[in-house]
Amino acid sequence: MKILVIGSGGREHALAWKLAQSKKVQCVYVAPGNGGTACDARLQNVPITDIHALCDWAQSEGIGLTVVGPEGPLSQGVVDLFRSRAMRIVGPSKAAAQLESSKAFSKAFMLRHRIPTAEFETFSDAALAHAYVERKGAPIVIKADGLAAGKGVVVAMDTAQAHEAIDWMLSNDTGVVVHNEGGARVVIEEFLDGQEASFMVLCNGLSALALATSQDHKRLLDQDLGPNTGGMGAYSPAPIVTPEIHAKVMREIIRPTLEGMMKEGTPFTGFLYAGLMISKTGDVKTLEFNTRLGDPETQPIMMRLKNDWVDVLWASTEPSVHSDALAREVHPLERIELIWDRRVALGVVLASHGYPQAVRTGDLIPSLPKETEDCAVFHAGTAFEAGQWKTTGGRVLCVSALGGTITQAQQVVYDAIEHIHFEGMQYRTDIGWRAKKGI
Ligand code: AMP
Ligand code: GLY
Repeated sequence: MKILVIGSGGREHALAWKLAQSKKVQCVYVAPGNGGTACDARLQNVPITDIHALCDWAQSEGIGLTVVGPEGPLSQGVVDLFRSRAMRIVGPSKAAAQLESSKAFSKAFMLRHRIPTAEFETFSDAALAHAYVERKGAPIVIKADGLAAGKGVVVAMDTAQAHEAIDWMLSNDTGVVVHNEGGARVVIEEFLDGQEASFMVLCNGLSALALATSQDHKRLLDQDLGPNTGGMGAYSPAPIVTPEIHAKVMREIIRPTLEGMMKEGTPFTGFLYAGLMISKTGDVKTLEFNTRLGDPETQPIMMRLKNDWVDVLWASTEPSVHSDALAREVHPLERIELIWDRRVALGVVLASHGYPQAVRTGDLIPSLPKETEDCAVFHAGTAFEAGQWKTTGGRVLCVSALGGTITQAQQVVYDAIEHIHFEGMQYRTDIGWRAKKGI
């Protein structure tokens, strides 16, 4: 089978890397891909980003299965487009992708279906938003309604910061926030304290297959200091998600979400990612939904997965048998048992100079360590030109490794990083610290 992965980040490299290990695969195409996918003999980059052109290409190439990495194409309706031509694709429809692409939609949805989340209100009027902040006080969280390339959330520790965020997000001219229909809106919500975890499930209608748990590190600097980023490193599993918490998340968050989407006529297919906040007392709330896999969480998760990933993704695209909205059915996805390497996997992101504010690109990456059984370097913001790699984005590489313990996995990753150098390279030296400390 020929397979297409849409996207160009570390997540997509890891997905393609894992898919290419399947004996069922003839070739894995990555559109548009990066400098890492360009150099793997089993992968082939396709320089197309327009979803209509990509759909035409996939059809003429006879692609059997497509997987969408990032949220952009999902919110443009790439899944609807492929399905309209009877092509199998892993991802949610444009309507279902609103769970991520509109914070206002997802918060209202959670309220309607009693899914635990932070208390909130939505505003399009700046004066009302400012007055709400004055009434509630800080800390308080301000979120842009639309997709904002990771810049749409401000955790304001004082009210001045909150007011500034409201003005920035509601203004129409920053070019960073993609406003949804109806114009600029902000969601203002209660600050939640606790530990975060990433909980991802592969879905079809009411069926959900949980992937291994993981934890991201959102802040740029060690000890969780500095600005928020797209994610500076991740590990799997996340010990904070105990079996009890796992069951609670499935019961209180995942099931009601899938049922709610079904009832509302927008059944969910593809990856659903619940960003969790887990309090000291074991209370779990949904910080956000993403309708795709996490980056960098996917990189360590793919390293631990032992199943044939093609079989799993293929099963998720089998049509549902019942049309009755809430009929329980045994979907082929539910017959799959995922098998995970018992070891820990840990990935550390190497980012460019100036990330996340003012990214510099074009720095040369002279050499990279060879892949081993337990260590892989996934590319994100790289290109391979004239026989060398250079940086093309904020997050450049994700060095990922398996180890018997967090400390052992860290050792393998940080030893490999010793052999990588590009000008301005930034990375955290403490990925996995919470799991190590048992907190
Ligand atoms: P989001 O995109 O909604 O996940 O937000 C990005 C990051 O902001 C999260 O990973 C959290 O670290 C933080 N955050 C979001 N919402 C809250 C909240 N209600 N309370 C505390 N921190 C939050
Ligand atoms: N690592 C967080 C995300 O993918 O949204």
